[in-house]
Amino acid sequence: MNAKKTIEGVFFLTGKDFANVGVASSELKAILEKMGIDHDIVRRAAIASFEAEMNVIIYTPAGMMRYKITPDHIKVIVEDIGPGIEDIELAMTEGYSTAPDYIREMGFGSGMGLPNIKKNTNELKISSKLGAGTTREFVINIKKE
Ligand SMILES: Nc1ncnc2c1ncn2[C@@H]1O[C@H](COP(=O)(O)OP(=O)(O)OP(=O)(O)O)[C@@H](O)[C@H]1O
Ligand SMILES: [Mg+2]
Repeated sequence: MNAKKTIEGVFFLTGKDFANVGVASSELKAILEKMGIDHDIVRRAAIASFEAEMNVIIYTPAGMMRYKITPDHIKVIVEDIGPGIEDIELAMTEGYSTAPDYIREMGFGSGMGLPNIKKNTNELKISSKLGAGTTREFVINIKKE
């Protein structure tokens, strides 16, 4: 791989498209694996991007996941046009979930998605506007500090 190379891309996410759950995060994982990135870094990026993707599919009508891979880090920006998150701190609390019963029956809604994103990334920023949508951006460092 060219050390100076930056790889970018985007996936479009459709709300309630449960048939394609995990497609974006799996594709990102495959790209990282193909680039020969350390297994643990790939695993962390796959977990964080899967949780972000799931939240867009469950809670919003649509969104997109953009990624940028540089020699130093993986940056993922996930934007949606959903209802927004009223209290981000509360939403970040382990076990907090507003998932409806049918989502819980599918095995989601344990309120661990956002805490898992936090745990598996080096930087996480979330901004949200009620009635407009949510943007979350996270970075996973490739080079160990
Ligand atoms: N993109 C979003 N738009 C609106 N609300 C969201 C969004 N993402 C998360 N939330 C809110 O934050 C809560 C916590 O999210 P989190 O991902 O931690 O848990 P969960 O999705 O409920 O369960 P799990 O991720 O464990 O399946 C959600 O239940 C929902 O109320
Ligand atoms: Mg979630």
